[in-house]
Amino acid sequence: MIKLEHVSKIYTNGKTSFPALDNVSFSIEQGEFAGIIGKSGSGKSTLLNILSGVDRPSAGSVEINGELVSTLSGRKLTKWRAANIGIVFQAFHLIPALTLLENVLLPMEFAKRGSRKKRRTRAMELLESVGLTERMNHFPDHVSGGEKQRTAVARSLANDPPVILADEPTGNLDSENAIQIFSLFEQLADEGKTVIIVTHDQELAEKTDRTLQVKDGRIISTLARERGLL
Ligand SMILES: Nc1ncnc2c1ncn2[C@@H]1O[C@H](COP(=O)(O)OP(=O)(O)OP(=O)(O)O)[C@@H](O)[C@H]1O
Ligand SMILES: [Mg+2]
Repeated sequence: MIKLEHVSKIYTNGKTSFPALDNVSFSIEQGEFAGIIGKSGSGKSTLLNILSGVDRPSAGSVEINGELVSTLSGRKLTKWRAANIGIVFQAFHLIPALTLLENVLLPMEFAKRGSRKKRRTRAMELLESVGLTERMNHFPDHVSGGEKQRTAVARSLANDPPVILADEPTGNLDSENAIQIFSLFEQLADEGKTVIIVTHDQELAEKTDRTLQVKDGRIISTLARERGLL
């Protein structure tokens, strides 16, 4: 389960400070598929970064599957994140010097997961699941935005994390590919993984179990739906 309590994030630049998140509290159950919506600048990426421990809250606590993430730091945090969270960054953050296949392999190598051969097989399967078998030996700079995005999705799943946090994972995709990626997340939630996506796509948001609407750093509405009704 994911539990945020009174989370605030204040960015300070010199003399100015900006409250990107203001007293945010909510819980998401294991196996839930949640969507976060809200206008540009409302605090969605900030919220995901705080959930993954990429960023630290200015106040409040974040608990994920019994771990108080907001108090972890250094190697402990890095290790916890590698084992527990799959992240799809809004700007992908693929490593340009590595092929798509090598990018997907990297988290498994970092976590020393299985044998070399098993890692390779898994990376190839993940790339296949996002329709990138043909492109796996290309470098990120030589593929399209949507292909980079799909690689980032495949990479986020590499270590089979119980929690997946994806920032606009279908933002660069045509509707057919968007639905394919969305279905992949849906399937993962059905298998018991907790999936949180940020999306601008109202239609996709309506197909999740719970929609959180963010405005000016606050959650202004939470809509839970019964699984399977839509
Ligand atoms: N490092 C930072 N320093 C100062 N302000 C920041 C920083 N990062 C984000 N902000 C500000 O915090 C607010 C929330 O940013 P955030 O990236 O979370 O928005 P978002 O909802 O993800 O927007 P988008 O839909 O455009 O991705 C914005 O007003 C942004 O300018
Ligand atoms: Mg964002």
